[in-house]
Amino acid sequence: METRTQSLLDRVSPERRAEVEERVETLLSELTLEQKVGQLNQLNADFSTGTAVGDMDVERGILDGDIGSVLNFTDLEEARRFQELAVEESDHGIPLVLALDVIHGHRTIFPIPLGEAASWNPEMAELSARVAATEAAASGVQWTFAPSVDVSRDARWGRVMEAAGEDPYLAGEFSKARVRGFQGDDLAADDTILACAKHFVGYGAVEAGREYNTVDVSETALREVHLPPFEACLEAGVGSVMNAFNLHERIPASSNETLVAGLLRDELDFEGLVVSDWDSFGELVEHGVAGDLRDAARACIEAGSDVDMVSGAYATELVELVEDGVVEESLVDRAVRRLLTVKAVLGLFEDPYRYFDEERRSRRTLTDDHREAAREVAGESQVLLKNEDDLLPLNDGGDVALVGGLADSATDMLGAWHAVGDPADVTTLKTTLTDRVENLTYAEGCDRDGSVGDEQLEAAVKAVAAADVAVVAVGERYDQSGEAASRAHLDLPGDQRALLEALVGTGTPVAAVLFNGRPLAIDWEAEHVPAILEAWFPGVEAGPAIVDVLLGEHDPSGRLPMSFPVTEGQIPVYYNRLRTGRPAEDADADLTRPPANPGEKYTSRYLDVPNDPLYAFGHGESYTAFAYTGVTLGAAAITAGESLAVDVTVENVGDRAGTEVVQVYLRDVVGSRARPVRELVRFENVDLDAGESATVSFELTTADLEFWTADEAYAAEPGEFEVQVGHAADDVTAVETFELVE
Ligand code: NOJ
Repeated sequence: METRTQSLLDRVSPERRAEVEERVETLLSELTLEQKVGQLNQLNADFSTGTAVGDMDVERGILDGDIGSVLNFTDLEEARRFQELAVEESDHGIPLVLALDVIHGHRTIFPIPLGEAASWNPEMAELSARVAATEAAASGVQWTFAPSVDVSRDARWGRVMEAAGEDPYLAGEFSKARVRGFQGDDLAADDTILACAKHFVGYGAVEAGREYNTVDVSETALREVHLPPFEACLEAGVGSVMNAFNLHERIPASSNETLVAGLLRDELDFEGLVVSDWDSFGELVEHGVAGDLRDAARACIEAGSDVDMVSGAYATELVELVEDGVVEESLVDRAVRRLLTVKAVLGLFEDPYRYFDEERRSRRTLTDDHREAAREVAGESQVLLKNEDDLLPLNDGGDVALVGGLADSATDMLGAWHAVGDPADVTTLKTTLTDRVENLTYAEGCDRDGSVGDEQLEAAVKAVAAADVAVVAVGERYDQSGEAASRAHLDLPGDQRALLEALVGTGTPVAAVLFNGRPLAIDWEAEHVPAILEAWFPGVEAGPAIVDVLLGEHDPSGRLPMSFPVTEGQIPVYYNRLRTGRPAEDADADLTRPPANPGEKYTSRYLDVPNDPLYAFGHGESYTAFAYTGVTLGAAAITAGESLAVDVTVENVGDRAGTEVVQVYLRDVVGSRARPVRELVRFENVDLDAGESATVSFELTTADLEFWTADEAYAAEPGEFEVQVGHAADDVTAVETFELVE
């Protein structure tokens, strides 16, 4: 699996490359050591996204040449003033690069990234990143700390909302689409920004899903699970990478030479900028691997980490470390060269003010087109988890009761990490449903945090009892997922279960709409609530996008990018698991009953819950139904370097148009290391009219068969492989085999 990393300089013309290189080398030769170290120092402007760090007067620092980049600003005028100070009043005149976490939209907020991944359509992520870049680049932002590409199998971890779920391949496809969307073809254009793949690497494996906790992953898991989305970003030409907070082999990622100098730089050939995470250099002391900041600064610069986000370790220690002969100045030069290259490629030397344009900002922000895009992406992100007796779409003309504080909570629709998103821009579910359904009654039922008062309950029960159908919005507040938002219990917060019980008890059919930033443990709801639509946090067009689905104007084509557990005790639960030596074979068996015989007892199982998740990876219903009517492989055997055609015929066997996501998984039957029961290798969205069928053609290459073998190398091993095709990871309907022969 060779990674074809593209550097920022590979992406410009040879003339431009020569120009950039010359400018950077000239500047480097002119800067003093202090000025070079100043470039590597990144400070926070007006709001904080992390622990308290030492105060520094940003304007003074810019004037004195002690700051090379700034993060966290929202005020265009202030940002422009920073740039003026740097360019016109500091001694060296080098422009700043200004950064913000633009994660799922800048002002026009799109669904959270986990929701976008549920579209299984990377074009949606590219579109949302493109819109975000267009808006951000007109508002002073030149660098986003996105995409988050952390693969995670632990829904307790709040940051699962900001990446693409549990699967390395799906995460890779979405991550590279985001990089393309942010960076476009030309980083010097006025509608593109530098992307940053984060957090390198393994952060998604924090133990027990507890934020900032220890990570202990094997070399194999690192390479097979956590690394692939980074490799996808490098191939897409991502210009920067962020260190993770976590340890790898007990050494923090920021100072980890094996990870940064070895894996990222030498092996994967990444020449771009590596930025620390918030104070992660300083945290070396807390981890107990550096005695003080001096020690921390030395370790991080030696590992190859370039920019220090807010810890001040480089700013206070690097000059002396070089003067004392502990750190070679060439290491400082190397890091500064990477930062100056970024600044040059962004076009900041030609026009440092190109990103600060009030007229462009108002013309390009929250436009009708951007809102339209947000609605499209939010529409494709929704997952119909269940739909008993075709309760959805709602019939015309019936009386509808809408319940739930979240149905009218603009703030929550934005989700965590919403940049400069404004609740005032949001159209809520209540607003749209009121517009589009004639006989609608709304009763709050519960607050947005899930608390239910007696009067609220009474009014909601009354409204639902009088209606033909109820739509009940339940879930999490936006700040119950995201950074520093781990939860040990994944049920509906507060009294929402009790509210649902009371509403279901009225006998009126209930369709629940879920707002949440992570998979939830909703086994009671799955059993008792007839229809459940997963809407995630959908962004500014929440209402229109959801109502399009509720009314059947948009077929729900989202599929889960992450398994929903039956209970937290199953976590980590994910589809691409290893078999174990004693697998509990029958996926449908009720393993909560006493084992029938010793053969069943001594298997890998629980006594009290099944092994399988409540809703598996890839699961999602449609308003129509699909059947897989044929899978053919182009050959029974291939040799290394050859490819294999996989043709899949799928038919819409229902009575309305719909979209199926064809999912192709692979299993390597015998390997030098244990191989997962299945791994996603291809997928495609197919729109089909009622009765229509289509054949989707995929091509697998031997690169798809490679893995990190017992020889500590990537290779495809000869032997038998299964191609498994179907509707979801737990709904594979066709299995064909082929061999890789020598
Ligand atoms: C800490 C987060 O881990 C990181 O993802 C983010 O980019 C920085 N803070 C800056 O806000």
